[in-house]
Amino acid sequence: MSKKPLILGIESSCDETAASIISENDQGNPIVLSNIVSSQVDIHKEFGGVVPELAARSHIEKIDWIVQKAIDDSGKKIDEIDAIASTAGPGLIVCLSVGLSFGKAFATSLNKPFIAVNHLEGHALSPKLNSKLDYPYLLLLISGGHSQYLSVKNLSKYKRLGTTIDDAIGEAFDKTAKLLGIDFPGGPQIEVFAKKGDPNKYKLPKPIFNKGGCNLSFAGLKTSILKISKQIKTDQEKFDLAASFQKTVIEILYKKTKVAFTEFEEQIKPKEKKFVVAGGVAANRVIRNMLIKLCEEKNYKAIFPPIELCGDNAAMIAMVGLEKFKLKQFDKLDYPAKPRWPLDEDAVFLKGAGVQL
Ligand code: KG4
Ligand code: ZN
Repeated sequence: MSKKPLILGIESSCDETAASIISENDQGNPIVLSNIVSSQVDIHKEFGGVVPELAARSHIEKIDWIVQKAIDDSGKKIDEIDAIASTAGPGLIVCLSVGLSFGKAFATSLNKPFIAVNHLEGHALSPKLNSKLDYPYLLLLISGGHSQYLSVKNLSKYKRLGTTIDDAIGEAFDKTAKLLGIDFPGGPQIEVFAKKGDPNKYKLPKPIFNKGGCNLSFAGLKTSILKISKQIKTDQEKFDLAASFQKTVIEILYKKTKVAFTEFEEQIKPKEKKFVVAGGVAANRVIRNMLIKLCEEKNYKAIFPPIELCGDNAAMIAMVGLEKFKLKQFDKLDYPAKPRWPLDEDAVFLKGAGVQL
């Protein structure tokens, strides 16, 4: 029996320091041997967002023992590792540099290949850690920094179908939470509040609902919530606003996903219709359930990463590393940290005032 590849993944693009060891079973399916994630939520809470300097400092303090723990928990020895994959972008440059430099140094000391990974590709491939998933597929990537529909044609071959022209969906959840007095990042808590509220209490705008293909916009929604939140007095009103916000987001995603399905089918003509939803917001069960229902209606197979692998982690970085390792796609040690690194490098930048849809 030939040795199965053993990949170390390292992630430090924002406010999670993470390391993971993955391998493959005899059927060739990935297996996660260890997955260590250390969140910095408590450090950034009082500032209402991620402070880059503090984030980088915390990565530096933690990276050694997190990687050591990932190796220890995997039950493998350091010299059994076949390659090291680190996130190289997109993200905060001071944060990226920590995991990237550590990965390069580690690879050099072990004399093993180094692989630079796009964090967004990590999210895109994260469902492969628990389900069989072949290319091509349609991806909805919904996180704190990104909201995009992409055709995933192959490893590193993406075509963007739609993107947000202003705020990311996770950002909209977090900003709404802040206005309701919930600590950063409040997205998950909005889901909890919404359970106790009336989703029909407040009528909120749905920007570019009937135009702009499957592009998205959430800034108008946030402005409207800001106005309403100033008049809110009771807890019940907070729950109602959270529920109305979540319902509006769901209506937007329902409509835009249908548009994305049509564009994906026209472009790719897939034999099997598969829809992957990944990124932190994919942990939202109400959004999941709506998208599963839509997939049933439209004959798509709905595929999600496990809830614990929706947010930032290093197992998804190792997953990209594993695919690249098998194709011998290695990177040189002068690979730069890339704060901006879109999955579809040909897609036009669609953000800010004056965007033409
Ligand atoms: O993918 P991720 O961990 O980090 C980025 O790469 O951005 O996503 C984090 C985002 C945050 O905005 C967080 O509030 C949101 O995902 N999020 C949620 C839920 N869980 C995490 N938003 C809504 N409902 C949730 N259950
Ligand atoms: Zn992420």
